Amino acid sequence: MIMPTLVQASRSPQVTIIGAGNVGGTLAHRIAESNLANVVLCDIVQGKPQGIALDLMQASAIAKVDRQIVGTNDYADTKNSDVIVLTAGLPRKEGMSRNDLLRINASIVKDVVSKAIAQSPNAILIVVTNPLDVMTYLAWQVSGFPTHQVVGMAGVLDAARFQTFIAMELGISSADINAMVLGGHGDLMVPLPRLSTVNSVPITELINKDAIDRIVERTRNGGAEIVKLMQNGSAYFAPSAAAYSMVEAVLSDRHRLFPAAAYLTGEYGLKDIFMGVPVQLGRQGVEKIIELQLTSDELAVLHASATSIQENINLL
Ligand code: NAI
Ligand code: 2OP
Repeated sequence: MIMPTLVQASRSPQVTIIGAGNVGGTLAHRIAESNLANVVLCDIVQGKPQGIALDLMQASAIAKVDRQIVGTNDYADTKNSDVIVLTAGLPRKEGMSRNDLLRINASIVKDVVSKAIAQSPNAILIVVTNPLDVMTYLAWQVSGFPTHQVVGMAGVLDAARFQTFIAMELGISSADINAMVLGGHGDLMVPLPRLSTVNSVPITELINKDAIDRIVERTRNGGAEIVKLMQNGSAYFAPSAAAYSMVEAVLSDRHRLFPAAAYLTGEYGLKDIFMGVPVQLGRQGVEKIIELQLTSDELAVLHASATSIQENINLL
């Protein structure tokens, strides 16, 4: 008689998303439809995460994917997550800067981080809530995590905006464009045309200076442009795509190089701050910070951006 062999099912990775709003909901959709991981959506509003999770489970039945999606208001359901993505908090309205969100989102971040990490002390924490660099610093402080376990998402989004505008200017597929944006996620971010390329050709050889200046300015205002057009709320498709790429790099241990908010200990002449720099991202979180050789002008703008972040950290 042939005995059936018991196959031990391997545990699916689990991603907790705190905040089942526009960014959180669309991120959950991406993770579920790519079959990357089980998802727990946790929100303060009763019924909202449960409703979205049920809707997403039904979408999964059509997409023929089978990860579990749970909606909850109870942090106990988030236990043992591999990644926690923090999207809880208010988005911008027209006329508001990201820093206007500081006080209200700081109180939300303090509350949710301590509850989430108590359930998943080994998770990699990816912060999305604005003002991004300051909230990432706060999340790190509240968590007590080693610095490599905490990272903020903004550079991937800002670089995607830069890539999009370069593609529009040149009439070339954005698939062939790589762009680098450093600094804080704000008006003082530092798009780097010198290090942005179309299939390895620097854009400075393809686009004239006036047009580059215009594209850089549009990138810096990329979020506000969408807030103004939408009139109620801020961008979420590109932000969730950016957060997804970071979650995937962590869970799949891809050692990918992204611009992201990481803790600096002297790199770029900056200390005790989270700010957008190129990082290598894998299963341990931030594996490495890459220190680029910047020109004195680029470094000056980067330091201006850091000063603005530091002023807001001082208000916490
Ligand atoms: P949203 O308003 O659609 O969703 C926010 C969600 O957070 C809501 O469902 C709300 O109920 C929930 N929430 C509020 N307080 C909570 C608490 N104490 N515990 C659990 N959940 C709570 O906003 P959206 O568009 O999803 O944006 C979320 C945040 O992400 C905002 O701060 C926004 O500015 C930021 N953001 C950052 C980006 C970046 O590049 N870093 C890009 C896009 C958005
Ligand atoms: C964005 O850049 C509002 O930070 C958000 O779209």
